[in-house]
Amino acid sequence: MSSIAKKSQSTLNTALFALGLDKGGRQPLHAQLADALRALILSHPGAAGTRLPASRTLAAELSVSRMTITTAYDQLLSEGYLSARAGSGTFVADHVPHLAPPAPAVPHHPPDPRPIRPFQPGIPDPALFPDRLWARHLERAWRRPDPALQAAPDPFGWYPLRAAIAAHLAAWRGLECDPAQIVVTAGASDAFDLLFRAALTPGDVAVMEDPGWSPLRAALDRAGLQTRPVRIDNEGLDPRALGAARAAIVTPSRHFPTGCAMPLARRLALLDWARSTDAWVIEDDYDSEFRYQGQPLPSLSGLDGLRRTIYLGSFSKLLSATLRLGYLVIPHALAETARAVLAQSGVRVSLVPQPALAAFMDSGEFASHLRRCRRTYAKRQALLLSELAPLASLLELQPDPSGMHLCCLLRPALRAVRSDAEISAACAAAGLNVRALSSHCVLPDPPQGLLLGYAGFDEETLKAAARTLVDVLSRAARKAFSTQV
Ligand SMILES: Cc1ncc(COP(=O)(O)O)c(C=O)c1O
Repeated sequence: MSSIAKKSQSTLNTALFALGLDKGGRQPLHAQLADALRALILSHPGAAGTRLPASRTLAAELSVSRMTITTAYDQLLSEGYLSARAGSGTFVADHVPHLAPPAPAVPHHPPDPRPIRPFQPGIPDPALFPDRLWARHLERAWRRPDPALQAAPDPFGWYPLRAAIAAHLAAWRGLECDPAQIVVTAGASDAFDLLFRAALTPGDVAVMEDPGWSPLRAALDRAGLQTRPVRIDNEGLDPRALGAARAAIVTPSRHFPTGCAMPLARRLALLDWARSTDAWVIEDDYDSEFRYQGQPLPSLSGLDGLRRTIYLGSFSKLLSATLRLGYLVIPHALAETARAVLAQSGVRVSLVPQPALAAFMDSGEFASHLRRCRRTYAKRQALLLSELAPLASLLELQPDPSGMHLCCLLRPALRAVRSDAEISAACAAAGLNVRALSSHCVLPDPPQGLLLGYAGFDEETLKAAARTLVDVLSRAARKAFSTQV
């Protein structure tokens, strides 16, 4: 035996004699010994061919029965770690099975929540979320669940929620519909995916507003539709610019993101276009409940009686985007196709929050929540406008009768020296999330403006953020003006 082999034998055997087996432990002694011996062999790469102590000797050293030793040796013989030579004992095998080195441990930390930086548009204030009422309704619905909640669900959603949505739409959006026409979805993108498959065919042309909502563009691409962007003016989409298309997707009550409303004459012209060309008008009515002056504008789908219109609503802005709840209101004629699509694609929305939301709406608490948010958001908008007054020569600052963000166009003097994208980048460096209006456009020569979300931030945060914005913009403008002269 070489001196290296002798050394390995002695260190391996020394380690073996020093093993401490846990006699009161849950794992049988022979299994503990097999695990320890396997680990020793793997950690002594030069130990191939080493003779192990006789079972009787090792049993005496470890104060266990001989059977414990022979069972452990047999186990490792069968795994290929040991080999037996008749009459001369048990040896570490010449070729020990190769074990992949354990993967390096990846430190496991829950990811930090993505920070919501001031002026991010479109998020409701989480502090206004009715946590206690919500918890109570959830608890009531699921403590002793209605058996229907645990049976095969209706793919269109929990019926009482659909009935509550129908009542809400009649009261708030001038839209009379039957709960049977409502499909609960996992937010707006899910709703678009479903309705594109139910009402359109891949290759169809769909008109989208420009500027417009980027996730919509992605949903149109997913459905294999041809997107035709049409630039809007300060009355929204002009029906005369539509041409031949299978659908027009519009935000008539509050255009996203500019905030303008489509006047009645255009709404009627749009419906005429849909009827005469057999096209669909898809109304994305994402936050019209937040209207601060005058009456909420009735929905376009209400005006049409849901003949050539499909209505899309979401709870993301009215309650919380983390609920992932939205809905479609479809003409009766589309119901069967929508069911067929859902049977094929499967339902993506959870039933868990639906009975709680139904109860929250039926109790009148949802309407109170909306009124409370509306009062708070109106005050926040007024505060923001007054804090931004020093920027009046650079930005168009006008009160907006509705919504959760302001869309402020750059005045010509600022536009001449800075793009909205450059300003957005400078704001990001100062910790603000100010979106450039042009980032919502795909057509050339996009309008230049800044989107300033105010709804999701309390007064102190808004004041501090407004001061930073005044600072960033004044500095950017001063620098640009000075380098021009
Ligand atoms: C124009 C528009 N439509 C719909 C939605 C709702 O989207 P979701 O229900 O997927 O959160 C939003 C939310 O930001 C939006 O801006």
